[in-house]
Formats: sequence, C-alpha cells, structure tokens
Amino acid sequence: MCGIIGYIGEKNCIPIIINGLKRLEYRGYDSAGLGFIHNGNAHVIKSKGKVSILEEKINSNQYFSSLGIGHTRWATHGIPNETNAHPHFNESKNLLIIHNGIIENYQTIKTSLSNIGYKFYTETDSEVIAHLIDSFIHKGNTLLKSVRLALSEVEGTYGLAVIYNGEADKIIAARKGSPLVIGVGDGENFIASDVSAILAHTKQVVYLEDGEIVEVYKDKFVTRTTSDEEIQKEIHEISLSLDEIDKGGYSHFMLKEIMEQPESVRNSMRGRLLIPEGSAKLGGLDNVIERLLNCKRIIISACGTSWHAGLVGEYMIEKYAQIPTEVEYASEFRYRNPIIHPDDAIFFISQSGETADTLAAMKEAKNKGALALGICNVVGSSIARESLGGVYIHAGPEIGVASTKAFTSQLVVLALIALLLSRKLGMKAEEGKCIAEHMDQLPDKIAQILKLNSEIEFIASEFQDAKNFLYLGRGFNFPVALEGALKLKEISYIHAEGYPAAEMKHGPIALIDENMPAIFIAPKDSTYDKIISNIQEVKARKGRIIAIASESDSEIDHLVDYTIKIPDTISMLMPILTVIPLQLLAYHIAVKKGLNVDQPRNLAKSVTVE
Ligand code: AGP
Ligand code: GLU
Repeated sequence: MCGIIGYIGEKNCIPIIINGLKRLEYRGYDSAGLGFIHNGNAHVIKSKGKVSILEEKINSNQYFSSLGIGHTRWATHGIPNETNAHPHFNESKNLLIIHNGIIENYQTIKTSLSNIGYKFYTETDSEVIAHLIDSFIHKGNTLLKSVRLALSEVEGTYGLAVIYNGEADKIIAARKGSPLVIGVGDGENFIASDVSAILAHTKQVVYLEDGEIVEVYKDKFVTRTTSDEEIQKEIHEISLSLDEIDKGGYSHFMLKEIMEQPESVRNSMRGRLLIPEGSAKLGGLDNVIERLLNCKRIIISACGTSWHAGLVGEYMIEKYAQIPTEVEYASEFRYRNPIIHPDDAIFFISQSGETADTLAAMKEAKNKGALALGICNVVGSSIARESLGGVYIHAGPEIGVASTKAFTSQLVVLALIALLLSRKLGMKAEEGKCIAEHMDQLPDKIAQILKLNSEIEFIASEFQDAKNFLYLGRGFNFPVALEGALKLKEISYIHAEGYPAAEMKHGPIALIDENMPAIFIAPKDSTYDKIISNIQEVKARKGRIIAIASESDSEIDHLVDYTIKIPDTISMLMPILTVIPLQLLAYHIAVKKGLNVDQPRNLAKSVTVE
C-alpha cells in the first residue's frame, strides 16, 4: 500500500529520496520517513502526515549520505503517528528496514523475540523484521543470509528494503506480494515500489518477482531466488516521461485526469480499432483467442471502480457477443470457493494491477484451470504479469485516488473486447463498423462535454451542502449511477447511493423529500420513457433533480431542476460519456468543501492489503 524508495551511489540520497517519496505519496500517505547511513551511523527522520512536513524537518538537519531508504506509510498495524512510521531500527540502531505489506504472524515472532530480550518500540507488524534480522546477524550471519533466514520465518506479504552500517555497500531488497523494482543507473542504483519514484533518474528497470532477494550495490545488483540460486534478470526500458506524472498546470491530479480523457480514450483505441473491417485487434488476446471464443462463460472480477466497469462490460458482452457473463467482487470471489470450469474465461480488471483481492482471485482462477486474463493500466504490474493474456488500457498514470480516466479507458477496452468477440462470433461487418465509428467519435464527444465544466461547477455550488444524494440509471447507465455515487462519496464524504432507477420504488423512494437531490442518468436510449416516469415519481415527492440528458432532448428540461446535456452515441458506449459530468460534479463539490481531492481521507490508490 505504501511507497518505497532506496538509493545507493555517489550523490546525496536525501533529496533523491524526498523527491521520490513525493512521487509515491499517492500510494499511501499517513506518514513518511527516511533512513540513511551518515558517518558510519544509521539515522532516521520520520513524521506524521505529508512528505513536505518530513522535508521541512530535514532541512534543519544537514546531512550527506549516499546510502538511504524512504517510505510513505498507509497504516495497517498501529495508528499513523511518527513512531509507527518507517524505517524501523533494530535494537542496536545500526540496521534499518522499510516494509510494504503485512506480516501475518508478527505476534508469534514478537513473543519469541521478546522472550530473548528484544524490546519493541512501535505498534507495527513490520518492526519484527528488523529484530529478527538482527537476531541472525548476532549469530554471525551476513546481512543477506540474515534477511533470508528472517524471511523464511515470516508469513504474509512484503516489499522490503534493508540497510545496515556493518555492510554499508548495499541495500538488500525482497519481494513477496508487494511490488518492487530495481532502477539501474550509471554508478548508482535504486529500488522502488513504483517506477514513478525513480523516473527522474533512470528509465532502466528490473521487476522483482515474488520470492526474489536482491543485493543492490552502487555499480551492480545480484538477484537470487528463494532457493538461493543466482538469476539473471532482464532490464526493461520504461517509456513513461516525467511530464506524464506531473499535474501539468491543473490544481489537482483528478482534474487533470478528467480533462485528459479525450486523449486517454484515444490512446486506449490507438492501433486497435479497425473501422473499415468493423472490428478490433487486441494483440494481448491473440494467443488465447480460440479458447476465449469457445468459452462457455465469461466472468469479470474486480474491485471498486474497476468492478463498475466490469458491470458495463457484462452488458456489452452479453448484448453483442451473446456469451453469458457474470461480474464478481474479487474479494467475495476469492473466498467463496467459486465454481470455475476450464472453459470459463475470467477477466480481472485493475487500474493499478496490484489490488490484493483481485490478484488473489486471479491466482485462484488460474489454480482452477480457467483462462485468467488481465485488463490493467500499470504496465508490468503484478496482475498483468500473472495473467495468461490481456489488454492494457493505456490510460497513462492515474495519480488521483479517485479513478476517472482509468474507468473510461477500461470501458473502451471492454467495448473493443465485445466488438472483437462479436465479430468473430458472427456479427455482421456493417454492425461492427457502426460500433467502431461511434467509438472513433468518442474523444471529440468527451471534449465537448468537458466544455461544460463551468456549468457543472455552478451546479456543484448549488448542491455542495446536501447531506445525501441518489444516483439513478437504467441499463448500461445503471453501473454509471454506482460509479457517480462512489466518486462523490470518496472525495466529498457526502453519503451517496447508486441504484437502478426502477428499483427506487422498492425502497429508496422513502428517502425522497425536498432535501434529497436525485441525479438521473437519462440519455435518449431504449429505457428513456421508463426513466422519465421515474423522474416524475421523484418530482411528485418534491425531490431536487439533476439530469444527464441527450442534447437532442428538450422535453426533459421542464421536468428537472438542472440538466447537463451530452452528445448522443449508441447505448453501449453511453457510459463513457455519461460518467464525465458525474466526475466533474464530484470534483467541484469536493473542492468547494475544501477537501483534499487527490488524497481523500482513509483511502489509498493501490489497495495491496485484503
Ligand atoms: C476508485 O475511485 C477507487 N479509489 C477504488 O474503488 C478503486 O477503483 C479500487 O480500489 C480498485 O483499484 P484497481 O483498479 O487499481 O484494482
Ligand atoms: N504493515 C505495515 C505498517 O502498518 C506497512 C504498511 C504499509 O504497507 O504501508 O506499518
């Protein structure tokens, strides 16, 4: 969940680590810390809150060190305070560790170490690792061997980095279930949980696999497997640029990412949409296409916003490819011993590619022999690497915790998959071409909706004090209602519920009064007349109504308090347009309430714990 960075070389590691931590802050940000070796002594500086607070603390302490590690924490064990922030010391304060993940058997280890005299200073699970390694060093082992022995005793997940002033020529790093990369530089090397932390220094990276331990020196690195065999790792070139991970002049990453959608949606289709043939080309599915076409059932599994995208995907695939499709929360799927057949194809959708529940569900599906496929944004992420095939959404880095452009790109990729499968399963070229042409028009239509930004900001000011919201939609737009409600609650902390509009009369209608705003997603599609009746039902009970409606619809204005008019498209693609005003509305309400839009409380971008 947290961010990890480490440096070894000739330069002063302190500014490198601080800047790296700032890049990592979006991963988890309740506290941060830095540890380094200076004049033969290990030092730690930590603080609660933002990396900028940590930075201020360091400016008043001038150090030069060319070996250090840094961490942004998202607490799992122990409250987010300075003491619990990482790095953690061993007893003799000459060894430091940072850890991402959870040590499940930390209580047992803590008890046995306490019995031989070790004292614990924090409430974290991670601290046991420092003392356990220390206990092996005391028995005369090298740092590497001590880390290996310690890790053989821990159960759980870790992305781990260790430095020790007894062997101050290296960082030892290890991975099990939490991402870790080595950044390869010239006379300097890095370790990081995410390439964005080290992109300013190198584009050459090596992805560690689960069970691997690496010794990182300033001019080389040596990787070993769990069984202590040295292995040669492939160096990958990262194509991301620093500009792509900056705010680019916007006040928040979230706004930047909303505004980027004409481009990100275009990128998701680039080279894949075959307009003249009325089909799609998805290289990542080439090797599995026969199996996919012959599958009896498709399951889509994901969490949060990615799960909402999956719901739209279900409607797309069933409508056009006529393959029975089910959508499952990854967290439920993994624990209920699901019935999975070898002729099931399962798509796992994850922006980060690191969501623990989704990754575990994928492993479960693979174990049961299903065709496990990934739809991810982060290239080289764990889910992408575990999958037997799949499609990257190519939305570019998404830093704001609230997912926006990843959602629309996930929908584009699901539409491409539906198109590809349908065409191969008998859809006429003409129909495929009509879908492809509508897809091609999406970026321009999104750009047109984004021009409504100030209009939506005005509506936000009218509703910013509401305590509850209802989001209602039907058909393809029901999942958009769920997504709109999730966006609002996660960044504005206003209670919001998404519902299929027709279900309203089975319960939520009891909530409607003049204080309850209802947002209807009501474009002109096959469910339009029905949703107008639902609008009437709310109006009759004095509810305040905002409608997302088609630009060709003049009728609806008389029925509702505010309309946001969007261009038309075919119903399958409508969610890619209807969600945009809802993203902007949530964004403006949160800004007006003075909240931290990019890093909302209690949330993290990448949920790598269960
Ligand atoms: C989205 O706004 C949320 N922050 C969250 O629901 C997110 O979609 C979920 O945690 C899944 O993340 P993933 O796509 O990276 O797997
Ligand atoms: N479990 C550790 C802690 O609570 C690490 C959490 C994290 O990954 O940030 O300190």
